[in-house]
Amino acid sequence: MLVLNDADISNYSDRVLLAGNRILTTFINTLHERIVSSKCIVGVVGLGYVGLPLAIALSNAGLSVVGFDIDASKIENLRVGKSYIKHIASSDVANLIQKNNAEFYSDFSVVEKCDVVILCVPTPLNKHMAPDLSYVTDTTRYVAEHMRHGQMVILESTTYPGTTSEVLAPLINEVSGLRLDEDFFLAYSPEREDPGNLNFVTRTVPKVVGADNPEALKATIALYNHIVDQVVPVSSAATAEAVKLTENIFRSVNIALVNELKTIYAPMGIDVWEVIEAASSKPFGFMPFYPGPGLGGHCIPIDPFYLSWKAKEFGLTAKFIELAGEVNRRMTDYVIANLVDLLSEHAGKAIKGANILVLGLAYKKNVGDLRESPALVIINQLEKKGERTAYYDQNIPIITPTREHPEFTGRQSVDLTAEEVRKYDAVLVVTDHDDTDWQLIADNAKLVVDTRNVMKNYGQGERDLIFKS
Ligand SMILES: NC(=O)c1ccc[n+]([C@@H]2O[C@H](COP(=O)([O-])OP(=O)(O)OC[C@H]3O[C@@H](n4cnc5c(N)ncnc54)[C@H](O)[C@@H]3O)[C@@H](O)[C@H]2O)c1
Repeated sequence: MLVLNDADISNYSDRVLLAGNRILTTFINTLHERIVSSKCIVGVVGLGYVGLPLAIALSNAGLSVVGFDIDASKIENLRVGKSYIKHIASSDVANLIQKNNAEFYSDFSVVEKCDVVILCVPTPLNKHMAPDLSYVTDTTRYVAEHMRHGQMVILESTTYPGTTSEVLAPLINEVSGLRLDEDFFLAYSPEREDPGNLNFVTRTVPKVVGADNPEALKATIALYNHIVDQVVPVSSAATAEAVKLTENIFRSVNIALVNELKTIYAPMGIDVWEVIEAASSKPFGFMPFYPGPGLGGHCIPIDPFYLSWKAKEFGLTAKFIELAGEVNRRMTDYVIANLVDLLSEHAGKAIKGANILVLGLAYKKNVGDLRESPALVIINQLEKKGERTAYYDQNIPIITPTREHPEFTGRQSVDLTAEEVRKYDAVLVVTDHDDTDWQLIADNAKLVVDTRNVMKNYGQGERDLIFKS
């Protein structure tokens, strides 16, 4: 971890002065002063799960915020104080409008007004499982077209080490003609958003920041000090990029491990959830991770492959990452195989023509996000086998377009009533939203296949047909 003191900063400035570049020193001081005194205007580009809460946090901290998104419907909603993200209250957005310190645009010309521009756009994989940086590069171009001398750009999108310096810096220079560290600063700060987790708010989650230039780092620290209690500086943008990937690789590998343990313990008659609960009583050296139907969301199934792709440039193979990805991807097959067996064994039903209710579509509990959700993979595979599926998800009443499964767009959730549940040969629990009526499922389902262990406290009495998978 880098600890930066004032001497480092003045040494750096002195060196620049010796090189005769007075403009640079003026720009550094002005930018830093505007940030510290809360006079800066901060642009947030990409107002999704990461960008919108960030814009709200910055505005609540008293900074002026300009939000940008290419999705005009999002801008329209925000301008009238409406949130389009389930766990972000419209009152939080309305507050910004009332305070008059936030504006929202699809037009990037306002970038010129900003002191700092933070990029929070998607970083998916392409169909060859390689990084798709097109959102980042498109956004950087739009921003760079309107940049002026004296601004700072911070990338928050998750990406491979080197993106900030190898991709953003030359691109901004090419489009705007501005020079890194002379006309503009660059930094990287990964987001640690955990949608739906009520135990943390933006302020209580420490923020890692990295920049290759100590002055840029100092300005970045000053900026995030406004919104979090602890800023954690590291020595370069690439290190900060690596920190984020390491956090998500850690999760992916550990989830793969418990998923594999589940498949090994099950034929031995051992319940992996009971094992994990008991192992968690160890006060040191163990951290619980939980198995499930496969990984979902915009982070854990994707981000690790940004590093395995980059590793190839150095002739290296990221074996753990590849293996964890494979194990986690196989979980949907495992769940379907269990469902097929249980249907045949307990309902005398063949898979073809069976009627299945998929319970929960979101990739994790208490959110309305279905990106990369294993539920979509499962529905797709079941329908290929000739099953008829319906879904229930109170957070996703209608399926919006996804990159992976556009064919499901427009499908609607059924209502969760006793009569509805009784219609199906089996209920497959994929997502364990807290506000689902689990007792109603236990009382009315003919067969329950539970991938989340959520039914552990609900029995069906005599006719217990609830199985973990
Ligand atoms: N969702 C999470 O929990 C989470 C957590 C940590 C990090 N991240 C990372 O943060 C980044 C953003 O993720 P997200 O979940 O907020 O994505 P998102 O899809 O919710 O939001 C991205 C937004 O960017 C907009 N956008 C796309 N291209 C644009 C452009 N050229 N100009 C302006 N706006 C544009 C989209 O319309 C969308 O509103 C990704 O790199 C992701 O890996 C996400």
